[in-house]
Amino acid sequence: MANTILVGAQWGDEGKGKIIDVLTEQADVVVRYAGGNNAGHTVIVKGKKTVLHLIPSGILRPHTLCVIGNGVVLDPIGLVQEMEGLKKNGIKVTPKNFVLSETAHVVFPYHRELDGAREVLKGKNKIGTTKRGIGPAYGDKAARVGLRVSDLVDPAKLEPKLSARMRENNLLLRSHGVKPLSFKRVFADYSKAGRYLKPFVQNTVVLLHDRIRQGADMLFEGAQGTFLDIDHGTYPFVTSSNTTAGGACTGSGVAPTRMDRVVGVMKAYTTRVGEGPLPTENQEISDLLHGMGREFGATTGRARRCGWFDSVATRHATMVNGIDDLAITNLDGLDTVETIKVCVAYRQGGRQYDYMPNDAEILAQCVPVYVEFEGWCTPTDKCKTFRELPAKARAYAKAIAELTNARLFIASVGPGRDQTIFV
Ligand code: IMP
Repeated sequence: MANTILVGAQWGDEGKGKIIDVLTEQADVVVRYAGGNNAGHTVIVKGKKTVLHLIPSGILRPHTLCVIGNGVVLDPIGLVQEMEGLKKNGIKVTPKNFVLSETAHVVFPYHRELDGAREVLKGKNKIGTTKRGIGPAYGDKAARVGLRVSDLVDPAKLEPKLSARMRENNLLLRSHGVKPLSFKRVFADYSKAGRYLKPFVQNTVVLLHDRIRQGADMLFEGAQGTFLDIDHGTYPFVTSSNTTAGGACTGSGVAPTRMDRVVGVMKAYTTRVGEGPLPTENQEISDLLHGMGREFGATTGRARRCGWFDSVATRHATMVNGIDDLAITNLDGLDTVETIKVCVAYRQGGRQYDYMPNDAEILAQCVPVYVEFEGWCTPTDKCKTFRELPAKARAYAKAIAELTNARLFIASVGPGRDQTIFV
């Protein structure tokens, strides 16, 4: 498989967890490189549903080494709970198959509190964050006042550093009208989690390069999607990390010259959670998908906003990420739609765009230019090969891949491993 970066080509929730799970069959190592427990990957194996927030989906394959890279921000309490949950379900999580970077930054309760308080302050301009403390944690990293995993697992370092950070953050919380946090309590909880996690902590850059020398095939698992990227997304309605392919290098310490392929994952339609522009948003398709019990967030349970497929966005994603191969997910979500629309350009203020304008306000005013496809109006969830798909579904999948400017590689027609069609 060589070294593959997998990214979301839309606004997150593209079904990456499932595609990662399928691709990890051929991977020796799976690396998570950005984000935190704001992500939620749902994987269904043998009918059993597992939702992962921080741990790479490769954990479900016994032979795969899973690595949390330096680019991730890590909530250790959440991570320990996730590890315990997996173990209860009979999934092995040991220092042999799961490793944590010593330079990943740690999310503390004051980050979460600040995340919530800042959203309240923003009022109607709020981002609609997951309130997991992601923005404040990456903010501390950039401001060079963050604590890292190497601090977490060493109580002698953790105590003075955490105490200093909590003094400042409690002042901040007070200014937002939020009750200050108890140092004693946070220190006790975090040093306990640090003791639990210590055996899993390593210099992951050295580890990954050792594995590359030994010829390992690696999968770099992206979280969120291209348009939530802090640089390339619909700023400020974005997350705080580089979710795009470049983030895989900075977030793992594996250089661009060691990467071989980029796989982009996109839904057959578009969704977004939280605030911010979504040019193809459409009530009819939202109602249809929600009515089918689809498109509710794995992390927060929020109903996702839904719209038609936006090829202006996905073409832009191909450019920014260098996508070679495409996995189209949720094709079966359109099984009952008679006429399917696809956005091929935007119009705004007498101008036509065939790329995403950077200004979120302009993007919010963009009106999609649509082309129409005839729906196949037949269930596809039992199809096992590309040929078995209705001709109109094949034509649609091919057309959206072509508009996105990358090769069609996978069409997915349901959440199960066996509902994955290699094209
Ligand atoms: P944050 O990452 O919690 O700061 O949230 C920032 C924005 O990214 C919000 O609009 C969230 O809804 C969105 N977001 C964060 N993580 C995910 C995800 O895994 N899927 C979809 N949207 C996400």
